[in-house]
Order: sequence, then C-alpha cells, then structure tokens
Amino acid sequence: MGLVIALNKGRIFKECLPLLADCQIEPDGDPNVSRKLIFGSRTGGHKLIITRSADVLTYVENGVADIGITGKDTILEYGSTMGFYEMLDMGIGRCKMMTAGPVGVVEPEGVLRVATKFVNITRAYYQKRGRQVAVIKLSGAMEIAPLLGLSDTIVDIVDTGNTLKANGLEARDTLCDISTRLIVNRASMKTKFVAVQALIQNLERVVRL
Ligand code: PRP
Repeated sequence: MGLVIALNKGRIFKECLPLLADCQIEPDGDPNVSRKLIFGSRTGGHKLIITRSADVLTYVENGVADIGITGKDTILEYGSTMGFYEMLDMGIGRCKMMTAGPVGVVEPEGVLRVATKFVNITRAYYQKRGRQVAVIKLSGAMEIAPLLGLSDTIVDIVDTGNTLKANGLEARDTLCDISTRLIVNRASMKTKFVAVQALIQNLERVVRL
C-alpha cells in the first residue's frame, strides 16, 4: 500500500533522499531541478510532499500525510503529539538548541529579553528554571537581535557554531539535542500498519545512529 510522506524543504529533504532511496523510495522527478512540490515514487505507489517544517506536522496530524519527516525542534515547538507517534530518529540533522549572547557580556539581572522563533520551547525552559523572561518572537536570523539591542539573549539551533561566531555571539546553555525524526499519523498506524512497519524497518537498517 502506498504511503503519503511529508518532508521538510531544504537540508532535511536533501539528507533524507539517499536514505529513502536505500529503501527503494525515489521521487519520479528531480526535486533539485523541478519546482514541483508533490512527487510520486518510482516504485511502491508512494507520494512525497515537500513542505515547510511546521506544515509537515499539520499534514500528518490531519491525516493527509501518513508519515512526516522533520526536526525534533519543530515537533517540540509545534507538535501537540495528539495526532501522531514519533517512531524513529533518522540520525541526520543533528544539532543543539542553545542559548547564546554577545561574547563576554554577562546576562542582566531581572527580566531577561530572549529573542527566538521557538517561543514555546523557550518559555518552558525558563519557566522550569524560575527565570522571568520577555520572549520576543522572530522568524529567523535571531543572531542579530542582541547586536541591535532587541534582546539580551537568543535561543536558536547551533550546528557548527559558525553563525554565532560570525555575529560575535557565544553559545551558553543547551536546552536539548535535536535531530530529524520520523512521525506517523495515529490512524495510519492502524489502517496502513504493514506498509508503515515495512518503511520503519527498512529505514532502521539504513540510518546511522
Ligand atoms: C540555522 C540556525 C542558525 C544556523 C546555525 O539556520 O537558525 O542560524 O542554522 O548553524 P551553524 O551553527 O552551523 O552556523 P538555518 O540556516 O537552518 O535557517 P533558518 O534561520 O531559516 O532556520
């Protein structure tokens, strides 16, 4: 039975393609060339949907996609976990969610101004520590917020640390480890059990943890 698989645009998609190909799931066109956002698969009757990270969850939670492949950061930030099961760490997209601030600058006492696009993760983190914060929502390029005086600190994804360094920031505390995860719609887990299990077992053989 064919599965509908929703994937994150960009880096996750590129890193996933070889893993899916090892499981005989290959798009019936070249996603690097084509502007198409829905591909069939050469074999198996699967469908690949390419979309934004948070929308991967929306498609899976609503049962439009059986499978979603996206970052743990997105799942923690936007996932209700009501509509899907997180089934597999794909072993790719490894990075950390961290706080960061200007090199050598001590965080102020009192209310800390934190810029981030991960507002839910950030609020939960500081609440647990009993630290009062004003969370400032940004859509990206968080690194410039402390430089321009918008915030004292940021919460963002750190991989190589190059972006922080290039903007005069230093990493401070780690909120959590991130990697790419495979999620399954709850109903699909029952109605398409054999196909879902087969995909997960095939992927388990090819992912490098
Ligand atoms: C992410 C993140 C940082 C950067 C960290 O941004 O938000 O800006 O990567 O990587 P580094 O530690 O290797 O420098 P991304 O390029 O994914 O774009 P985004 O801002 O749209 O999330």
